[in-house]
Amino acid sequence: MKPINVGILGLGTVGGGTFNVLMGNAAEIARRAGRPITVSHVAAREYDPTQLVGLDNVEICDDALALAQNPDIDILVELIGGYSPAREIVLKAIENGKHIVTANKALIALHGNEIFAAAQQQGVTVAFEAAVAGGIPIIKAVREGLAANHIEWIAGIINGTGNFILSEMRDQGRDFADVLQEAQALGYAEADPTFDVEGIDAAHKLTILASLAFGIPLQFDRCYTEGIGQIEPQDVIYAEQFGYRIKHLGITRKTEEGIELRVHPTLIPEKRLLANVDGVMNAVLVKGDAVGPTLYYGAGAGSLPTASAVVADIIDIARTLTTDPGNRVPHLAFQPDELSDDPVITMDAVQTAYYLRMTVADKPGVLAAISNILSDADISIEAMQQKEPHGGATEVPLVMLTHTVREHSMNAAMAKIKALDTVSGDIIRMRVEQLS
Ligand code: HSE
Repeated sequence: MKPINVGILGLGTVGGGTFNVLMGNAAEIARRAGRPITVSHVAAREYDPTQLVGLDNVEICDDALALAQNPDIDILVELIGGYSPAREIVLKAIENGKHIVTANKALIALHGNEIFAAAQQQGVTVAFEAAVAGGIPIIKAVREGLAANHIEWIAGIINGTGNFILSEMRDQGRDFADVLQEAQALGYAEADPTFDVEGIDAAHKLTILASLAFGIPLQFDRCYTEGIGQIEPQDVIYAEQFGYRIKHLGITRKTEEGIELRVHPTLIPEKRLLANVDGVMNAVLVKGDAVGPTLYYGAGAGSLPTASAVVADIIDIARTLTTDPGNRVPHLAFQPDELSDDPVITMDAVQTAYYLRMTVADKPGVLAAISNILSDADISIEAMQQKEPHGGATEVPLVMLTHTVREHSMNAAMAKIKALDTVSGDIIRMRVEQLS
């Protein structure tokens, strides 16, 4: 059968890995796809030819837009990342009838609605398995494997860099900046690493997962996002004393009021599998009404793991090239005219439990005043510890876990506690999830 011609945009960490997997596993890939898959063109500004096997037989240029219009290319693989010019190039390629494979979560989370509409009109596929959780086939699992279910919620560690930093800080006592630098050297971090540490990358991915799970349009701007920069070593220790670990989670849940969409540091019971996912590994827990909880685990970033997902998408497209576009798996798992307008609720409306840490005066009546504010707000305390004063200090840390409450009530209670004369500085607050 006629080979499929692939054009690759970008030969960085993921582009280079994709090139090498397509070249190195070509025979096995052809056995699976039913025809050879050939890298015919590459557009890249910078690359290291010594790391790429078989580059001699490929046309190389530095004009990505030219590849988007090249009639010899069947599938354009966008691995340059970022919002622009990726959006313009992908739309141009779709206009020219090309199928797209991308690892670009920022592109899909922000411009996916527009891109999928354009692709549907042209009868082409935009595949994006590598955009979420690196090598884990989580998109295929949610979109196809769990298609029988009402998905109830998803909770995942979906940023490898952030998890790598948290794990190294906790286990090796390493410095934040030092671990981040290593993650960059290993090719895990985004071009702008603030996307990793501030939770934006995880929010991109969660936005995509929520749309696949609940059949809603992509709404990145509705995702609540908190990063890992505020986590202090003492919180890691106190959380462990309560039997919890701190993980940076993306959580999306369908409630009667709407859909929760939130990324933030979260205390989870240490016995949960998710609490024991360390390093660059990602894991996504999906709860379906029929199947129950299911867990997906694997490398969330890195050259070859991400390439694994990119190449799987290329094979998928090769297998379905001759099928009726109307009968292909819909981009967002549900038929485009069946997307729902269920609202994404604000963080104020979310109900969850909390970990609080505050610095209080070490004198009688302080605990009573704080407990009264919480009880007036109908917030029940699950556990509380006042730590020992050190070296004659007159202030001590007070840490507590609460039962579930609406975030709006917690915010109001925290403002009242902070206003007490006996409480100094900021109150540190993290959400607590049982994931049961
Ligand atoms: N920067 C991302 C991460 C790469 O660390 O997870 C994979 O999407």
